[in-house]
Formats: sequence, structure tokens, C-alpha cells
Amino acid sequence: MAFNTSKHTLVESEDGSFTAFSSEFQEHYHSTRDGALHESLYKHVIPAFKHHQDKEELHILDICFGLGFNTLATLYYMRENSIKKRVQIFSPEFDGELITSLREFTYPEIFTDLLPVIEVLSREHVYKDDTLYIELYIGDAREYLRTCSERFDIVYQDAFSPSTNPLLWTKEYFNDIARLIKDDGILTTYSMALKTRIALYENGFNLYINSGKGHRDATLASKSDLSGYEEVDVEHKMKCNKGIHSLRD
Ligand SMILES: C[S@@+](CC[C@H](N)C(=O)[O-])C[C@H]1O[C@@H](n2cnc3c(N)ncnc32)[C@H](O)[C@@H]1O
Repeated sequence: MAFNTSKHTLVESEDGSFTAFSSEFQEHYHSTRDGALHESLYKHVIPAFKHHQDKEELHILDICFGLGFNTLATLYYMRENSIKKRVQIFSPEFDGELITSLREFTYPEIFTDLLPVIEVLSREHVYKDDTLYIELYIGDAREYLRTCSERFDIVYQDAFSPSTNPLLWTKEYFNDIARLIKDDGILTTYSMALKTRIALYENGFNLYINSGKGHRDATLASKSDLSGYEEVDVEHKMKCNKGIHSLRD
């Protein structure tokens, strides 16, 4: 059976992995230019795991689950690098129909061993084994954050773009994230928008540029200092761009 929902079309991205186009949001799930798999690994998973290489247990907030690339790329990266950490992943996603249809999605071949995880998640919304716990919350991410009692080492901030889905990029939204992320936690996002960076900065985050071969620049944020990355001088950018402000609820 082929992946097919009332709101999604399958699209091949530049690295050969498939993503989807949402007719509801009029946006692709990933950058088709950077590639779905590539984007997950290089903009989210690799910088997050490098930052936390010494921790034995990681709690991850995956905003939002979508096609599940960030969660699967996390498991793939751990397996490929023989990383033995205990990992818990929590991921809100309001499109329950999409989650059910994921067992038909065409994932990259390197995810083949991980397909049983998607199979279980799409039916039961929870997966667990000896070292891994994954929980999907089918509902609104804002509501989830308000009632969440977890504290996170990593936040994959991978909502649709600020212009398409502004409520997942506001100053108030990042206030909830700031409450839930640990002081040494790291937030990863593809967004380079100044209004996103200002919203994070206004909530006590330092901002950094995640640049690298084969992907367009992305943003990292942390309440602590991140070594090895160029820091963004948000104060200076705000002075030079007085008309740009954080999004508000
Ligand atoms: C860009 S996609 C996420 C891509 C995903 N990280 C992946 O790797 O496939 C954005 C997702 O956010 C979901 N979404 C949008 N607004 C939401 C909200 N308020 N609460 C929960 N999920 C939401 C959409 O249904 C969509 O699946």
C-alpha cells in the first residue's frame, strides 16, 4: 500500500530521501534542497549528540513528529556510532491520520531496521525497549508544553516555518521551551529568521550558527555557552533591524 493521506503528497528530496508536501500548510516537511535525511542528521541530530557526548541519558523533545525523521535519524545515528545512551523521546503531533499512515511511508533504506519502531508508534503511540522510550502526544504542541513535567537535554525545533505556523515560534512559545529545557540543553532548528532568534534571545538563549558542508546554515541555541560555533550577536542585529521583532501569541 502506498503512503497516501487527504493532506499529503510524497516528494523526493535532493539527497534521494522522500519527504511530503502538506496541502494544509502549503509547505514541504523538509528542505527539498538539503534533503530530508541530510537535514535531520546535520541540522538536528549530529550537533545535539556532539554537545551531549558525555551524558549517559538524554531526554529529547521532538517538535513535531511529522514523518518521524528526527526521531529515526537519532536512532540511526546512535546505532551507526555505537552510542549506548539511554534515550527518551517525547513528541507532540496533532495529525493523528498522518501518524497512522506512517507505516506506508517510503523511508530511506538506512532506516529499514528501524521500521518496527514506526510500526509500533503508528499503532500505539508509545515504543519502549531496554534503553529507549518514545512517546507521541496526539494533540496540540502548545497544550503539551503547558502540561509537560519533563526536563529536556535536546529540543529539535522542527515545526513548519514561522510564517506558516507562527504559534510554534512566538516569544511565549519559547518561554515554555525555556522552562522545560535544562540549563545545559541544546535547541536545534533550521530557522535562520531573525524574529526566531530574537524570540529565543528574549528567553535567555545564546544563539549560534550551525554551518557545514552540504547543508545551508541553521541555528543552535542554548542557555549555556556552546563551544566550536560562531555566536550570533543578536543585540547588534536588533539595533541594525529595528523593525524586526519576535512573533507574539
Ligand atoms: C515540518 S513538519 C515536522 C517534520 C518532522 N520533524 C519530520 O522529521 O518529519 C511539522 C509538523 O507539525 C505538525 N503541527 C503543526 N502545528 C502543530 C501543533 N500546533 N501541534 C502539534 N503538531 C503540529 C504538522 O502536522 C506537521 O506534521
